[in-house]
Amino acid sequence: MINVFQPSLGNEELEAIKKVFESNWLGKGKLTAQFEENFAQHLGISKSLVRSTNCCSEGLFNSMKIFDIKPYDEVIIPTISFVGAANAVLANGSKLVFCDVDKRSLNVRLEDIEKVVTPKTKAILLIHFGGIACEIEEIVKFAKERNIWVIEDSACGVASKYKGKSLGTFGDMGMFSFDAMKILVAGDGSILCFNNEELANKAEKIMYFGLESKSGYSNTVDKKWWAFDVSCAGHRAIMNDITAAMALEQLKKLPSFIARRKEINDFYNKELSEVSWLDLPPVVSDEYKSSYYFYWIQCRNDKRDDLAHYLRENGIYTTFRYYPLHLVKYYGCKEHFENAEWASNHTLCIPVHQSLSDNDVTYIVEKIKSFDK
Ligand SMILES: Cc1ncc(COP(=O)(O)O)c(C=O)c1O
Repeated sequence: MINVFQPSLGNEELEAIKKVFESNWLGKGKLTAQFEENFAQHLGISKSLVRSTNCCSEGLFNSMKIFDIKPYDEVIIPTISFVGAANAVLANGSKLVFCDVDKRSLNVRLEDIEKVVTPKTKAILLIHFGGIACEIEEIVKFAKERNIWVIEDSACGVASKYKGKSLGTFGDMGMFSFDAMKILVAGDGSILCFNNEELANKAEKIMYFGLESKSGYSNTVDKKWWAFDVSCAGHRAIMNDITAAMALEQLKKLPSFIARRKEINDFYNKELSEVSWLDLPPVVSDEYKSSYYFYWIQCRNDKRDDLAHYLRENGIYTTFRYYPLHLVKYYGCKEHFENAEWASNHTLCIPVHQSLSDNDVTYIVEKIKSFDK
């Protein structure tokens, strides 16, 4: 079966992990600090604005505490989002407010947010679908004027930029995922970034028991180094040096991963543009630098499900990301969002990852073309 997403790991990662074993320090240590520094450099921001954690979902959940979002506050989420975003809002006891998206880009637009914003809106938790920026400048400007926090889930955009600025660095907080299905894979792990140091320091405490002092060898006090103080009921959500060792190697390989993904993306664009019953992802200007996390096709012939089955029968796995959250019964949403529902019935994410061979992508294109001739 050709996977829809797949990591590319090799001897470099294995060697790096071996060294961590030999060092006898597997926890959060020098390598984690090094990865935070290297990733900050990759984003083009200061290391002081970056904190690592054990997964991006922790970033979503902790964002509610970091921004002091209260039970009566409303948080806007585009309905095409990761399930963890909605759970983070509900687990905080806050009000989940969904909004629609553009039916072709599946990205949230300012006009979608304007329709649902109220004086109770405290935060907008958005994603950049497939690694292409949503209307982030307009949304940030709108939010700033109303004292609304902007949280950017940039899990899809590990190397994405808009007008030369990394996604995740436009709002008040950004976050990236290194789980097994992402582009830069470290098994798990995440980087959170903030637009000021105060927020970054607050996040660090929330993600480590609310401890006011350093633990272990990092605690340099002369006496009673085992004593501590706590300022909030924080979690234990930290990266470790095994994860960081993998992540450091993957970060070196990231440019080559993105280059290969772009080749595949461009090949699909060229080859599939001839297929009369398909729409392809919208063409964006040079101001957008994508991570090519998804490649999606939209079936005008209402046969998306049949196509998915046909491809699976032929050894090609496909999926749809992200199933509209307002359709999930548990969230109790009574509204309809036309664009998201249309997209969810017509869109298919087809394989795009750096391990695909030329033969694989030619085969995928051939199979799509041979369906509904
Ligand atoms: C858009 C988005 N946000 C957040 C996450 C959560 O990431 P993690 O698996 O690192 O918790 C995912 C994971 O699939 C995702 O796709």
